[in-house]
Amino acid sequence: MIQRDCPAKINLYLRVLGCRKEGYHSLETLFQEIDLVDRLTWFPQAGPLKLEVRGVQVGPQQDNLVWRAIQRFSEETGQVVAGRFLLEKYIPVGAGLGGGSSDAATTLTLLNEYFGYPLDQDRLAEQALELGSDVPFFLLGGCRLGRGRGELLWPHATPACPHGGFLLLPGLFISTTATFKAYAGCSGPSANQVPFLGENHLLEAAQAVSPSFARVWAVLKQHFVGELFFMSGSGSTCVWLTQETEMPVSCKALLDELGVAFLAFRFVGNSSGSITQISEPMS
Ligand code: C5P
Repeated sequence: MIQRDCPAKINLYLRVLGCRKEGYHSLETLFQEIDLVDRLTWFPQAGPLKLEVRGVQVGPQQDNLVWRAIQRFSEETGQVVAGRFLLEKYIPVGAGLGGGSSDAATTLTLLNEYFGYPLDQDRLAEQALELGSDVPFFLLGGCRLGRGRGELLWPHATPACPHGGFLLLPGLFISTTATFKAYAGCSGPSANQVPFLGENHLLEAAQAVSPSFARVWAVLKQHFVGELFFMSGSGSTCVWLTQETEMPVSCKALLDELGVAFLAFRFVGNSSGSITQISEPMS
Protein backbone atom coordinates (compact mmCIF):
# COMPACT_ATOMS: atom_id res chain seq x y z
CA MET A 1 0.00 0.00 0.00
CA ILE A 2 1.33 3.45 -0.94
CA GLN A 3 -0.17 6.61 0.53
CA ARG A 4 0.39 10.26 -0.42
CA ASP A 5 -1.07 13.62 0.59
CA CYS A 6 -2.25 15.91 -2.23
CA PRO A 7 -1.94 19.50 -0.95
CA ALA A 8 -4.16 22.45 -1.88
CA LYS A 9 -2.91 25.88 -3.03
CA ILE A 10 -4.06 29.44 -2.82
CA ASN A 11 -3.20 32.19 -5.31
CA LEU A 12 -1.60 35.07 -3.39
CA TYR A 13 -2.28 37.12 -6.50
CA LEU A 14 -3.58 36.30 -9.98
CA ARG A 15 -3.28 38.64 -12.97
CA VAL A 16 -4.60 37.96 -16.46
CA LEU A 17 -2.04 39.35 -18.88
CA GLY A 18 -3.80 38.55 -22.15
CA CYS A 19 -5.80 36.12 -24.29
CA ARG A 20 -4.10 33.24 -26.12
CA LYS A 21 -5.06 31.71 -29.45
CA GLU A 22 -5.94 28.25 -28.04
CA GLY A 23 -8.68 29.74 -25.86
CA TYR A 24 -6.50 30.00 -22.79
CA HIS A 25 -5.30 33.15 -21.02
CA SER A 26 -1.76 34.24 -20.17
CA LEU A 27 -1.42 34.60 -16.44
CA GLU A 28 0.93 35.83 -13.80
CA THR A 29 0.17 34.28 -10.45
CA LEU A 30 1.84 33.57 -7.13
CA PHE A 31 0.96 30.03 -6.07
CA GLN A 32 1.29 29.07 -2.41
CA GLU A 33 0.97 25.49 -1.17
CA ILE A 34 -1.07 25.11 2.03
CA ASP A 35 -1.61 22.37 4.61
CA LEU A 36 -5.10 21.28 3.52
CA VAL A 37 -4.79 17.92 1.73
CA ASP A 38 -6.67 15.15 -0.09
CA ARG A 39 -5.33 11.64 0.59
CA LEU A 40 -4.48 9.19 -2.19
CA THR A 41 -3.87 5.50 -1.40
CA TRP A 42 -2.85 2.85 -3.92
CA PHE A 43 -3.05 -0.91 -3.33
CA PRO A 44 -1.00 -2.05 -6.35
CA GLN A 45 -1.66 -5.76 -5.80
CA ALA A 46 -5.44 -5.49 -5.47
CA GLY A 47 -6.47 -6.90 -8.87
CA PRO A 48 -7.72 -4.94 -11.87
CA LEU A 49 -7.57 -1.14 -11.97
CA LYS A 50 -10.27 0.50 -9.85
CA LEU A 51 -10.78 4.01 -8.44
CA GLU A 52 -12.89 4.74 -5.38
CA VAL A 53 -13.56 8.37 -4.42
CA ARG A 54 -14.85 9.31 -0.95
CA GLY A 55 -15.95 12.67 0.40
CA VAL A 56 -17.56 14.30 -2.65
CA GLN A 57 -20.28 13.57 -5.14
CA VAL A 58 -18.40 11.85 -7.95
CA GLY A 59 -18.87 12.63 -11.62
CA PRO A 60 -18.07 10.13 -14.41
CA GLN A 61 -14.89 8.14 -13.70
CA GLN A 62 -13.27 9.12 -17.01
CA ASP A 63 -13.42 12.80 -15.94
CA ASN A 64 -11.68 12.21 -12.60
CA LEU A 65 -8.17 13.66 -12.72
CA VAL A 66 -6.64 10.70 -10.87
CA TRP A 67 -8.14 8.37 -13.47
CA ARG A 68 -7.00 10.61 -16.32
CA ALA A 69 -3.48 10.83 -14.86
CA ILE A 70 -3.28 7.01 -14.66
CA GLN A 71 -4.42 6.67 -18.29
CA ARG A 72 -1.97 9.33 -19.44
CA PHE A 73 0.93 7.74 -17.56
CA SER A 74 0.12 4.29 -19.03
CA GLU A 75 -0.11 5.66 -22.58
CA GLU A 76 3.11 7.63 -22.26
CA THR A 77 5.23 4.88 -20.63
CA GLY A 78 3.55 1.63 -21.76
CA GLN A 79 3.34 0.53 -18.10
CA VAL A 80 0.26 -1.44 -17.06
CA VAL A 81 -1.21 0.13 -13.91
CA ALA A 82 -3.36 -2.23 -11.84
CA GLY A 83 -4.89 -2.33 -8.35
CA ARG A 84 -7.21 -0.18 -6.30
CA PHE A 85 -6.83 3.60 -5.90
CA LEU A 86 -8.67 5.27 -3.04
CA LEU A 87 -9.03 9.07 -3.15
CA GLU A 88 -10.28 10.71 0.05
CA LYS A 89 -11.36 14.26 -0.74
CA TYR A 90 -11.04 16.97 1.89
CA ILE A 91 -10.28 19.89 -0.46
CA PRO A 92 -13.56 21.47 -1.63
CA VAL A 93 -14.25 21.10 -5.35
CA GLY A 94 -14.78 24.11 -7.66
CA ALA A 95 -13.30 26.27 -4.94
CA GLY A 96 -10.11 27.72 -6.49
CA LEU A 97 -7.88 25.51 -4.30
CA GLY A 98 -6.55 23.22 -7.03
CA GLY A 99 -7.66 19.95 -5.41
CA GLY A 100 -8.21 17.97 -8.63
CA SER A 101 -4.96 19.29 -10.13
CA SER A 102 -3.05 18.27 -7.01
CA ASP A 103 -4.60 14.79 -7.08
CA ALA A 104 -3.45 14.45 -10.71
CA ALA A 105 0.11 15.63 -10.00
CA THR A 106 0.41 13.29 -7.01
CA THR A 107 -0.81 10.36 -9.14
CA LEU A 108 1.78 11.07 -11.84
CA THR A 109 4.59 11.42 -9.29
CA LEU A 110 3.60 8.28 -7.39
CA LEU A 111 3.39 6.16 -10.55
CA ASN A 112 6.66 7.54 -11.88
CA GLU A 113 8.44 6.65 -8.62
CA TYR A 114 6.88 3.17 -8.47
CA PHE A 115 7.90 2.27 -12.02
CA GLY A 116 11.48 3.52 -11.59
CA TYR A 117 11.24 7.01 -13.15
CA PRO A 118 10.40 6.26 -16.82
CA LEU A 119 9.54 9.97 -17.23
CA ASP A 120 12.19 12.62 -16.60
CA GLN A 121 11.17 15.94 -15.01
CA ASP A 122 10.48 17.63 -18.39
CA ARG A 123 8.25 14.82 -19.68
CA LEU A 124 6.47 14.66 -16.34
CA ALA A 125 5.80 18.40 -16.56
CA GLU A 126 4.50 17.98 -20.15
CA GLN A 127 2.07 15.27 -19.07
CA ALA A 128 1.02 17.39 -16.10
CA LEU A 129 0.19 20.35 -18.37
CA GLU A 130 -1.89 18.08 -20.62
CA LEU A 131 -4.03 17.33 -17.56
CA GLY A 132 -4.52 20.98 -16.55
CA SER A 133 -2.87 24.38 -16.26
CA ASP A 134 -2.33 24.13 -12.47
CA VAL A 135 -1.03 20.55 -12.45
CA PRO A 136 2.69 21.41 -13.13
CA PHE A 137 2.74 23.60 -9.98
CA PHE A 138 1.77 20.62 -7.83
CA LEU A 139 4.78 18.63 -9.07
CA LEU A 140 6.85 21.22 -7.18
CA GLY A 141 4.73 22.85 -4.45
CA GLY A 142 5.94 25.56 -2.06
CA CYS A 143 5.75 29.16 -3.22
CA ARG A 144 6.12 29.66 -7.00
CA LEU A 145 5.64 32.43 -9.50
CA GLY A 146 3.61 31.05 -12.41
CA ARG A 147 3.42 32.50 -15.92
CA GLY A 148 2.14 31.28 -19.31
CA ARG A 149 -0.95 29.20 -18.62
CA GLY A 150 0.53 28.76 -15.13
CA GLU A 151 3.09 26.13 -16.15
CA LEU A 152 6.20 28.33 -16.36
CA LEU A 153 7.31 28.22 -12.77
CA TRP A 154 9.97 30.05 -10.78
CA PRO A 155 10.81 29.52 -7.11
CA HIS A 156 9.69 32.54 -5.11
CA ALA A 157 10.26 33.54 -1.51
CA THR A 158 7.04 33.67 0.45
CA PRO A 159 5.96 37.32 0.80
CA ALA A 160 6.30 39.05 4.14
CA CYS A 161 2.73 38.56 5.38
CA PRO A 162 1.01 36.25 7.86
CA HIS A 163 1.86 32.72 6.67
CA GLY A 164 -1.60 31.40 7.31
CA GLY A 165 -5.08 32.37 8.41
CA PHE A 166 -8.51 31.13 7.46
CA LEU A 167 -10.13 29.78 4.33
CA LEU A 168 -13.73 30.95 4.09
CA LEU A 169 -15.72 28.36 2.15
CA PRO A 170 -19.09 29.48 0.78
CA GLY A 171 -19.81 25.92 -0.43
CA LEU A 172 -20.38 27.19 -3.98
CA PHE A 173 -18.97 25.38 -7.02
CA ILE A 174 -17.59 27.91 -9.51
CA SER A 175 -16.43 26.52 -12.86
CA THR A 176 -12.96 27.75 -13.90
CA THR A 177 -13.95 27.52 -17.57
CA ALA A 178 -17.08 29.62 -16.99
CA THR A 179 -15.13 32.22 -15.00
CA PHE A 180 -12.45 32.65 -17.68
CA LYS A 181 -15.22 32.85 -20.30
CA ALA A 182 -16.91 35.63 -18.33
CA TYR A 183 -13.62 37.52 -17.95
CA ALA A 184 -14.02 40.55 -20.15
CA GLY A 185 -10.76 42.55 -20.26
CA CYS A 186 -7.94 40.86 -22.12
CA SER A 187 -5.71 43.89 -22.39
CA GLY A 188 -3.88 43.07 -19.12
CA PRO A 189 -2.14 45.47 -16.75
CA SER A 190 0.47 47.84 -18.10
CA ALA A 191 4.07 46.70 -17.68
CA ASN A 192 4.91 49.08 -14.85
CA GLN A 193 2.06 48.03 -12.57
CA VAL A 194 3.37 46.06 -9.61
CA PRO A 195 1.14 43.17 -8.47
CA PHE A 196 -0.23 43.43 -4.95
CA LEU A 197 -1.09 40.72 -2.44
CA GLY A 198 -4.66 39.55 -2.95
CA GLU A 199 -5.02 41.10 -6.42
CA ASN A 200 -7.29 38.83 -8.48
CA HIS A 201 -8.41 39.77 -12.00
CA LEU A 202 -11.01 36.97 -12.00
CA LEU A 203 -13.00 38.39 -9.08
CA GLU A 204 -15.61 40.24 -11.16
CA ALA A 205 -16.00 37.31 -13.55
CA ALA A 206 -16.55 34.88 -10.65
CA GLN A 207 -19.23 37.20 -9.29
CA ALA A 208 -20.90 37.35 -12.71
CA VAL A 209 -20.86 33.53 -12.96
CA SER A 210 -22.24 33.02 -9.45
CA PRO A 211 -24.66 35.67 -8.14
CA SER A 212 -24.72 33.74 -4.84
CA PHE A 213 -20.96 34.22 -4.57
CA ALA A 214 -21.38 37.92 -5.43
CA ARG A 215 -23.79 38.33 -2.50
CA VAL A 216 -21.50 36.53 -0.05
CA TRP A 217 -18.41 38.41 -1.30
CA ALA A 218 -20.10 41.82 -0.89
CA VAL A 219 -20.90 41.15 2.78
CA LEU A 220 -17.54 39.54 3.61
CA LYS A 221 -15.54 42.26 1.89
CA GLN A 222 -17.26 44.88 4.06
CA HIS A 223 -16.61 42.90 7.22
CA PHE A 224 -12.92 42.22 6.47
CA VAL A 225 -12.19 45.74 5.23
CA GLY A 226 -8.57 46.73 5.90
CA GLU A 227 -7.55 43.06 6.23
CA LEU A 228 -5.60 40.85 3.80
CA PHE A 229 -8.75 39.36 2.37
CA PHE A 230 -9.14 38.02 -1.18
CA MET A 231 -10.53 35.35 -3.49
CA SER A 232 -8.33 32.38 -4.47
CA GLY A 233 -8.03 31.29 -8.13
CA SER A 234 -11.36 31.40 -9.94
CA GLY A 235 -13.28 31.21 -6.63
CA SER A 236 -15.24 30.45 -4.55
CA THR A 237 -12.80 30.26 -1.60
CA CYS A 238 -12.02 33.53 0.14
CA VAL A 239 -8.74 33.80 2.02
CA TRP A 240 -8.11 35.81 5.17
CA LEU A 241 -4.40 36.06 5.94
CA THR A 242 -4.08 36.81 9.64
CA GLN A 243 -2.09 36.12 12.82
CA GLU A 244 -5.37 35.25 14.59
CA THR A 245 -5.48 31.59 15.55
CA GLU A 246 -9.16 31.59 16.60
CA MET A 247 -11.96 32.98 14.45
CA PRO A 248 -13.26 36.07 16.33
CA VAL A 249 -16.77 35.62 17.74
CA SER A 250 -18.28 38.47 15.68
CA CYS A 251 -16.91 36.91 12.44
CA LYS A 252 -18.20 33.49 13.45
CA ALA A 253 -21.72 34.84 13.85
CA LEU A 254 -21.59 36.52 10.44
CA LEU A 255 -20.23 33.40 8.72
CA ASP A 256 -22.96 31.31 10.36
CA GLU A 257 -25.58 33.70 9.07
CA LEU A 258 -24.14 33.54 5.55
CA GLY A 259 -23.74 29.75 5.63
CA VAL A 260 -19.98 30.09 5.05
CA ALA A 261 -17.72 27.44 6.63
CA PHE A 262 -14.16 28.28 7.74
CA LEU A 263 -10.94 26.38 8.14
CA ALA A 264 -7.61 27.46 9.68
CA PHE A 265 -4.62 26.87 7.39
CA ARG A 266 -0.84 27.46 7.17
CA PHE A 267 1.53 27.98 4.25
CA VAL A 268 3.76 25.02 3.37
CA GLY A 269 7.24 25.26 1.87
CA ASN A 270 9.59 28.19 1.44
CA SER A 271 8.84 30.90 3.96
CA SER A 272 11.93 33.08 4.31
CA GLY A 273 11.98 36.82 3.75
CA SER A 274 10.48 38.74 0.89
CA ILE A 275 13.17 38.70 -1.79
CA THR A 276 12.12 37.43 -5.19
CA GLN A 277 14.48 34.80 -6.58
CA ILE A 278 14.09 34.25 -10.29
CA SER A 279 15.80 31.37 -12.01
CA GLU A 280 15.13 29.29 -15.13
CA PRO A 281 11.46 28.37 -15.52
CA MET A 282 10.39 24.76 -15.36
CA SER A 283 8.79 24.12 -18.75
O1 C5P B 1 -6.20 24.00 -17.78
P1 C5P B 1 -7.49 23.74 -17.10
O2 C5P B 1 -8.18 22.52 -17.66
O3 C5P B 1 -7.42 23.72 -15.63
O4 C5P B 1 -8.40 24.98 -17.46
C1 C5P B 1 -9.80 24.97 -17.38
C2 C5P B 1 -10.32 26.10 -18.23
O5 C5P B 1 -9.94 27.36 -17.69
C3 C5P B 1 -9.77 26.08 -19.65
O6 C5P B 1 -10.58 25.31 -20.49
C4 C5P B 1 -9.81 27.53 -20.03
O7 C5P B 1 -11.11 27.88 -20.47
C5 C5P B 1 -9.59 28.26 -18.70
N1 C5P B 1 -8.19 28.70 -18.53
C6 C5P B 1 -7.74 29.79 -19.26
N2 C5P B 1 -6.44 30.19 -19.11
C7 C5P B 1 -5.61 29.58 -18.26
C8 C5P B 1 -6.06 28.47 -17.51
C9 C5P B 1 -7.35 28.06 -17.66
O8 C5P B 1 -8.47 30.38 -20.04
N3 C5P B 1 -4.35 30.01 -18.13
